[in-house]
Amino acid sequence: MDAPFSAKRRRFDTENGNKAHHRQGYVEEYPDREGSTSLIFALQEKVGALAEALKIFENHHVNLHHIESRPSKENLSLHEFYVSCDDTKGGLKEAIEELKLKTDELTVLSRNPSDKTDEVPWFPRKINELDRFANQILSYGSELDANHPGFTDPVYRARRKEFADIAFHYKHGTAIPRVEYTEDEKKTWGTIFTELTKLYKTHACREFNHVFPILIDNCGYRADNIPQLQDISDFLKDCTGFTLRPVAGLLSSRDFLAGLAFRVFHSTQYIRHGSKPMYTPEPDVCHELLGHVPLFADPPFAQFSQEIGLASLGAPEEYIHKLATLYWFTVEFGLCRQEGQLKAYGAGLLSSFGELKYCLTDKPEKLPFDPAMTCVKEYPITSYQPVYYVANSFEDAKEKLELFAQTIPRPFTAWYNAYTQSVEVINSKEQVINLTKAIRGDLGLLEDAISKLK
Ligand SMILES: [Fe+2]
Repeated sequence: MDAPFSAKRRRFDTENGNKAHHRQGYVEEYPDREGSTSLIFALQEKVGALAEALKIFENHHVNLHHIESRPSKENLSLHEFYVSCDDTKGGLKEAIEELKLKTDELTVLSRNPSDKTDEVPWFPRKINELDRFANQILSYGSELDANHPGFTDPVYRARRKEFADIAFHYKHGTAIPRVEYTEDEKKTWGTIFTELTKLYKTHACREFNHVFPILIDNCGYRADNIPQLQDISDFLKDCTGFTLRPVAGLLSSRDFLAGLAFRVFHSTQYIRHGSKPMYTPEPDVCHELLGHVPLFADPPFAQFSQEIGLASLGAPEEYIHKLATLYWFTVEFGLCRQEGQLKAYGAGLLSSFGELKYCLTDKPEKLPFDPAMTCVKEYPITSYQPVYYVANSFEDAKEKLELFAQTIPRPFTAWYNAYTQSVEVINSKEQVINLTKAIRGDLGLLEDAISKLK
């Protein structure tokens, strides 16, 4: 995607709601006029184009009370229009739909609270916008429940605060601070590491067992050493472009999944309380580094994870819940079939000595992974799972997930631009043409490569 196009899209950003039009250089006399909806659209420069667009508002009985225009700064053939209108007769939704067919760009900047024409929840467009999530955490990582093993331990609680503070102040593009783990913390890690590594050969999937020895060689995975997040993040970036960022507390499902769209995994850095090394009521560094990290180094799995993230951007709340359930039954508790045998690939299994053994026995039910069915399944969070879903392969799971994502009601397609680490929102003819041009280059390479194969 070329740069001017990308800059243009950002200028049309809707993230700041009713203040956006000030920032973009348009001046409205009554910007906060109650009940008004404002939007910007762009038209090709030609005689009568505006009259044609305004006729649409008239036909749908939409009253315009302000209009401004200017030539597009990025595309000389376009002219932009800012309008403010009200929807007292209820035809605005239809007017916008019809206008979209005539325009090259259309964005609703602010809207009347009762207007339901464009209720797309905010989502990050650039990777550095993930920094905002630090201020949106649902609970701080040092707040422990009364039944937490570390609740009455002041040393542990102080330590948890240190970790939460590191994450809270973390900014994209900076190094994740290295942590000097205490002897007690290393002992806890060592107990878990030693027990789990006995099971991996027989219980973990092929991809996991391929990556794990490489992590031992490159990232300090040892019984007497807790690896550092930054070293692992660098390793993953080389493998699949995934990176880690520390997280200060519990994120909402929407925010957590949005990170995956950018191939960013929010990881805890603290370790569970030493009194119960085989139990943790929340994700900790053992769960992240032993359970999650190995598979993020596998390209098909990385792509599958990113697909869940991209599907979540701007999705209605009901679908965020469904995607979080799919994440649960795959990335956290997924099984797959390899050479006729069941193997674990979910991080919740690969970081739990007890459940890793249990999940491959005949006790729990096993069902084929089918997003439409899986996404509505209820599940317990404090006991072993009664049901696991089995994928044929990560590629197969990804294809099924892509089909499911197409059923999510969103007025756009989200496409990740790896060059700019940004999400392109594809919802206009011009954007589709630009995307086609971008993909055409790749298809040309593919054609060339095929033609050179003997
Ligand atoms: Fe997890």
